[in-house]
Amino acid sequence: MKKKITILPGDGIGKEVTACGKKVLEQIAECFGHEFVFDYGQIGHEAIEATGTPLPDETLAKLKKSDAILFGAVGHPKYDNDPTLPVRPEQGLLKMRKELGLYANLRPIKLFDELLAASSIKPEILKGADILFFRELTGDVYFGERGRKNDNKTAYDTMIYSTYEVERIAHKAFKAAQTRRKKVTSVDKANVLESSRLWRAVVQEVAKQYPDVTVEHMFVDAAAMKLIQNPKSFDVVVTGNLFGDILTDEASQIAGSMGMLASASVGDTVGLYEPIHGSAHDITGKGIANPLASILSAALLLDISFGLQEEADTVIKAVERTLKEGYRTRDIADPSTAHEKILGTEVMGNVVSNQIRMIV
Ligand code: NAI
Ligand code: MG
Repeated sequence: MKKKITILPGDGIGKEVTACGKKVLEQIAECFGHEFVFDYGQIGHEAIEATGTPLPDETLAKLKKSDAILFGAVGHPKYDNDPTLPVRPEQGLLKMRKELGLYANLRPIKLFDELLAASSIKPEILKGADILFFRELTGDVYFGERGRKNDNKTAYDTMIYSTYEVERIAHKAFKAAQTRRKKVTSVDKANVLESSRLWRAVVQEVAKQYPDVTVEHMFVDAAAMKLIQNPKSFDVVVTGNLFGDILTDEASQIAGSMGMLASASVGDTVGLYEPIHGSAHDITGKGIANPLASILSAALLLDISFGLQEEADTVIKAVERTLKEGYRTRDIADPSTAHEKILGTEVMGNVVSNQIRMIV
């Protein structure tokens, strides 16, 4: 299979982890006889410095011609410290999602058994948890009307959803549930918010087309609690952009670390694959970032964009074996265990890559 993959390393640890994701894709290509052609694009702080804009037209044009995109993260302390700076890295990310029609963000939450002991949550609560989040990605307060009034003393953002936007992500969630444990939990705040009332009504309508799937509606505050109390009770979760953003960071603790969680953003055109974490300035340049989220994002890429199920499973198996042999990055290390081997980012990537060679 011949495919064109654009790598967008972005900022901070984005560069460090996508190098590992790419390495794994190269290893897969070699072992399974595919030809992956790689190209690079600029986005985020790096792109602002080079061109004055967080998503240059040149990058967007490249993305539109790609078969898949492997993305790192964007961000820089400069913008975090000054939220009034008008040109910002995350604008590149939001524009990219919108321009490419990437309206559904899939975030599988599953704990590798090898990491059970390292979690701060009790193993009996975690073992067997397997959740697939569908976070809506191109609507909500992130894209609604915003502004200032009253001499700059009042600010507002608008939470807005259309029937069409809710329908298309709901269909994706129900279809996925049909291949899993046949349950969808739709998360909203319909007791308070009008956009949530629409959300709930639309999901109820869509649900009628999937009689084999059980649907449950939950308020976001209750969902936040239940996620940690009984994660096994969830199968597929579908929710809006803001609630999904918050709940999936929370859910990352079920998977052990932010450094473990991969995501796929899909919609009308090319698919984009990225870790859920950001550019992590606190550890940038230290070579200690966990590359497994980027590597698992590469597995999602192989599966969803290319339909290469066996190749994707091989990557996951390679990660499993790496963990089973005791290799850890610092964020997933268990201080009580002496036999673990703590590795840096690049070496961790190499170990997974070698595992792939041994499996195939
Ligand atoms: P973050 O996700 O970058 O980091 C949160 C915490 O998790 C940090 O302590 C970090 O060291 C740790 N962490 C994250 N990824 C890790 C990995 N692979 N291995 C080990 N530890 C890891 O979120 P934070 O600190 O709130 O934001 C940092 C910057 O990233 C900001 O500029 C923010 O705007 C940006 N950001 C970008 C995102 C994106 O590009 N998709 C998403 C979230 C934040
Ligand atoms: Mg987030």
